[in-house]
Amino acid sequence: MSYAIPTSNINMEPFMKMPPDFNRKSIIMRTDKVYECEIINIVRLTDMEKLFHLRIIDPVEAELFKFKPGQFVMVELPGFGEMPISLSGSTQRKGHIGLCVRKSGKVTGMLHKAVVGAKIGIRGPFGTFFPMERMAGNNILLIAGGLGLAPLRGPIYWVNEHRSEYKDVHLLYGTKKPEQILFDYQFDMWARIYDFDIRLIVEEPDDRWKGRVGLITKLFDDMTIDTGNTYAIVCGPPVMFKFVCTHLNKIGLPMDRMFVDLERRMHCGMGKCCRCMVGSTFTCVDGPVMDYWTVMNLKEAI
Ligand SMILES: Cc1cc2nc3c(=O)[nH]c(=O)nc-3n(C[C@H](O)[C@H](O)[C@H](O)COP(=O)(O)OP(=O)(O)OC[C@H]3O[C@@H](n4cnc5c(N)ncnc54)[C@H](O)[C@@H]3O)c2cc1C
Ligand code: FES
Repeated sequence: MSYAIPTSNINMEPFMKMPPDFNRKSIIMRTDKVYECEIINIVRLTDMEKLFHLRIIDPVEAELFKFKPGQFVMVELPGFGEMPISLSGSTQRKGHIGLCVRKSGKVTGMLHKAVVGAKIGIRGPFGTFFPMERMAGNNILLIAGGLGLAPLRGPIYWVNEHRSEYKDVHLLYGTKKPEQILFDYQFDMWARIYDFDIRLIVEEPDDRWKGRVGLITKLFDDMTIDTGNTYAIVCGPPVMFKFVCTHLNKIGLPMDRMFVDLERRMHCGMGKCCRCMVGSTFTCVDGPVMDYWTVMNLKEAI
């Protein structure tokens, strides 16, 4: 009997030069440690979203836990389940973690019922991050749609903590309705103290809304973007970042200067279960942060 031997490597996307690094995967698999955390504050942001402030209980573990803007943790609610949530806050506050969670199902629903003092577990941090150091010396465009502002708070704090290293910073934020706007109590601080240019837009205004109306790309109409000296970070639903990145690319911003946060259903968060795979790419390990060029070349990524 003769077998046809495949001529191409089944582990490789057609565009990839290298097969996935399974050795790297096994290194990541060793990081399945659970940090026990206490919820020390809860901020109700909208009907659907809450910001949870967590403190890692063990002081030695608190010292050891480090993350970069754009990474995520697996949140464990013993007896209920686990879910990936982006780290939404400063990387500098040792042992303190912010998680902005939308109530959308079983585990998020249970977390929304938690009270201050409740104990939960986190594993991580996992995934790739926004290359903030590489962006130094440039203008930064931060663009978020809806819940996308949660992961964007990592870069927001980072830029402020290293403000002199970055030039102009623009934050463009769009939601469907005004009542879905997150973190509006921080906008004044981001504008005055962080020196950010903040532009908001909603699709469906109510009677009280005095701001702009339309899709987020409309905010580009009266902006001049120096495409040779700008990096963009775009977080939101794939349909939104596709439109935003296509527009930015049309006006001359190279695709490898745009970074997006690609979310997929995840289970282990560390390259073990294959639930998050797009082609041969593990979104939990090779993402969730990717440059737009890479995303464009991933089959069925968006
Ligand atoms: C990298 C990453 C970062 C995320 N960051 C945030 C965040 O900052 N805030 C936030 O509110 N949500 C975030 N999500 C989405 C969040 O993980 C889901 O809303 C959550 O898992 C839903 O769980 P559930 O049990 O409440 O819903 P159910 O629908 O009951 O979930 C059932 C199962 O499906 C999985 N699941 C369901 N929806 C998603 C989803 N969209 N992504 C991944 N797994 C899913 C869950 O892990 C769970 O095991 C993120 C997802 C990813 C992949
Ligand atoms: S979530 Fe399990 S491999 Fe990515």
